Amino acid sequence: MSSPFVVNWGVMGPGRIATLFVNDFLNSKDPLRKSVLDKTIEHRLVAVASSSSVDRAQKFKDESIHQSSNEEIKCYGSYDEIYDDPKVDIIYIATPNMTHFKLCYQALTHGKHVLLEKPFTINHRQCEILTRLAKEKHLFLMEAYWTKFNPVYREICDYLFGSKECDIGTIERVISDLSMVFPRNDPGMERIYKPELGGGVIMDIGIYALYWALGFLDKDNKQAIPQITSFAHNADTGVDISTAAILKYGNGTLAVSTCSGIVKNEGHDVLINCTKGRVIVDQASHPTEYWIYDNENKQLVHKKFEFDGEAMYFEADHVAECLSKGLTESPLHTMAHAARMSKILDTIRKQVGNVYSETLESVGV
Ligand SMILES: NC(=O)c1ccc[n+]([C@@H]2O[C@H](COP(=O)([O-])OP(=O)(O)OC[C@H]3O[C@@H](n4cnc5c(N)ncnc54)[C@H](OP(=O)(O)O)[C@@H]3O)[C@@H](O)[C@H]2O)c1
Repeated sequence: MSSPFVVNWGVMGPGRIATLFVNDFLNSKDPLRKSVLDKTIEHRLVAVASSSSVDRAQKFKDESIHQSSNEEIKCYGSYDEIYDDPKVDIIYIATPNMTHFKLCYQALTHGKHVLLEKPFTINHRQCEILTRLAKEKHLFLMEAYWTKFNPVYREICDYLFGSKECDIGTIERVISDLSMVFPRNDPGMERIYKPELGGGVIMDIGIYALYWALGFLDKDNKQAIPQITSFAHNADTGVDISTAAILKYGNGTLAVSTCSGIVKNEGHDVLINCTKGRVIVDQASHPTEYWIYDNENKQLVHKKFEFDGEAMYFEADHVAECLSKGLTESPLHTMAHAARMSKILDTIRKQVGNVYSETLESVGV
């Protein structure tokens, strides 16, 4: 038997999402992780970097990461050190939004592949620069939009675009929402409320709602940028905290994407209306269940998944498979997708008055 392709991960920003992501790819035994279970690929965490202190990185290694042996994980008290670690193949950047551009630029400059958390960058200009740099250096770069690798998302694509049989016609409209309550006075919610951190709900959770529209109304990412009209209720800090966007494509298809940090949506998050039926999905960011109905309301498909973990490991496995093939871009979530999203986010932020400082918007590194 041939040995697995090993991906040596370095993590920058040992916070909330890094804890979930790393534990997921190291520990999940989900039977759907075929390439891990058949030992085609293997993930290793080899380094953790904190911007504040080596103790924070060490704490992350000792207390947040659950794996039987974590002897080989190097801990760094600055981000610079991880760039120079020859063992690190790819850096997962899981730091607040306003740091993404600079850290990713530096990681690529030092010859590391990068998986960069969403929102990819503060604006479209920054996204373009990183894309160009990764191309020049022949390095892998992807926005960490994990939902796209979730089997719910993938199976719905199969039903609507090809390989699975289920004729509900062509897609006419996508309605999607992601809403949850972000308490104003909770210190853990600063990333949402502070403009200086690149806050606002459209940049945080709105992306998930919007990507259902983009992914299903513009599957090949080839249409012109849709017409967009958006409105928001803004928090006292100026960032959007409850936001609605209507997107209209040239072919007449429409999307309504909403997100909120002040109300919770207890219903289903996604509805894809087709000419002969509809698809319903339980959650926009972390889908676990979906239904397909025809126009007579007959249920054609219903599937519910029980994931072993957060289902972020599908994204990690996809990245590993791309690296094993020597790809510099994901064929499923290309940099053109991230670029289009960054343009749409620029437009919505402008329309709703979520204005960041020149420093955040700058392309200086
Ligand atoms: N994919 C998802 O589902 C998902 C979910 C939540 C968040 N995210 C994204 O992931 C990123 C991180 O989110 P998070 O919730 O994990 O953030 P977090 O826990 O607040 O911060 C992550 C880490 O970033 C580092 N950091 C670097 N500069 C910082 C600064 N100026 N202020 C605060 N922390 C700083 C901190 O570690 P050190 O100082 O020790 O380096 C911190 O632990 C965000 O871009 C967010 O949009 C994605």
